Amino acid sequence: MTGCPFGHDQSTLPGDSTPTRPSPRFATWREEAALVPLHYRDGHEGVLVTRYDEAKAVLTDPRFSQQPQRMPCADAPIEAGVPPGPLDEAGLLADRSGNILGFDGAPHVRLRRAVTRRFSGRSARTHRPRIAAIVAEQLEVLIDAGPGADLLALYAEPISIRVHALVLGVADHLLDRYAQDYVHGAPLQQQHDLLREAVAHRREDPGEDVISDLLANDDLTDAEVEGLLHMLSMSGRDTVAYMISTGTVALLEDPEQYRLLTQDPEMVPAAVEEIVRFCTMFLTVFPRTATEAVTIGDVTVESGTTVSVSAVSANRDERRFPDPDRLDVLRDARGHLAFGDGPHGCVGQQLARVELDEAFRALVTRLPGMRLVSTEYHRPTPLANPVATYAARPVLVSW
Ligand code: HEM
Repeated sequence: MTGCPFGHDQSTLPGDSTPTRPSPRFATWREEAALVPLHYRDGHEGVLVTRYDEAKAVLTDPRFSQQPQRMPCADAPIEAGVPPGPLDEAGLLADRSGNILGFDGAPHVRLRRAVTRRFSGRSARTHRPRIAAIVAEQLEVLIDAGPGADLLALYAEPISIRVHALVLGVADHLLDRYAQDYVHGAPLQQQHDLLREAVAHRREDPGEDVISDLLANDDLTDAEVEGLLHMLSMSGRDTVAYMISTGTVALLEDPEQYRLLTQDPEMVPAAVEEIVRFCTMFLTVFPRTATEAVTIGDVTVESGTTVSVSAVSANRDERRFPDPDRLDVLRDARGHLAFGDGPHGCVGQQLARVELDEAFRALVTRLPGMRLVSTEYHRPTPLANPVATYAARPVLVSW
């Protein structure tokens, strides 16, 4: 079964959520219990964590394993949105070796350490001038297209893929193909072939980037290098594009919130935390398996239980965020779980914060009169599987 066991039975995970308005069923569940039963597509039953404190407890507890082989359907692909198509032996080995989302403990730490340097707060700040330049260029493209332009296609997606290529070290002459393969999708083999070209280029011409770091790391195998790069190319890119476009919709739907930022763009960094909380993309993060009996709040889950944390629900928990369904750019939203938490918390979150800061700052500064023309965000859609996330949609804006 494709995506098993990460797919959810839609009858138990509500399908009527939209990115700015989660299904009311989450609030009902939170009221009832911190943990509710959840059916997975292969038929087995686990639990969904609905409340903030319990969600944080699971994400930070090493007794929950992220290894897919612990799941009932052990041979499942582990990545969200795994593209179709056959893959050569080297590619298969790479994806098995480098996907840090599927490792626990020391093997996970070893791989994660190989990439964290380029995603630290300091490194993200170093990239800020280039990110600001990319944002400024894309804003000109949006403005040139004229009122009614699609902010997702002309602004959010190009910013995310260009910054991704910059930080990873994908050479400029490969950028168009990289964007094509990873934004619009391509067979798995084609994606791996492109990464091999990008790696070969950096072998000849090293720089200050992730690929060059990985190549200089004698501790890593070629398969791990390719696997890490593929995993990094699959993660983070669509999430940043989603957050720029969804955050814009949320701000324009509540024009007073947008106006506050136009009056004082210095408020944007704090507002980013609230936007990320309010527009949380992961209805569920990657499922975990309890490696022993674990008590969460007042419930004990048995060893072997599959546990999915709903970041969307946790970030709308009224116990942690008063009046949670209101976007409030003046709120202190730090501590939200939109980037996950614990050992698998988002590697790229400092970089993402800089991208979002620059992207929203440019909009409120250059287009203070921006309005929403139309968006498809309000139409509920089937959740993207295998991990349940929202997907970005066109956002037509005027100014
Ligand atoms: C607004 C943008 C982003 C959001 C909302 C986001 C969200 C998340 C979440 C929720 C997780 C945890 C998943 C889990 O625990 O099951 C995660 C992990 C991860 N993210 Fe992000 N992410 C974003 C940007 C990025 C960027 C820019 C990168 C850089 C390439 C990135 C790379 C990763 C990686 C590698 C992991 C796995 C970490 C591990 O397993 O140790 N993300 N992200």
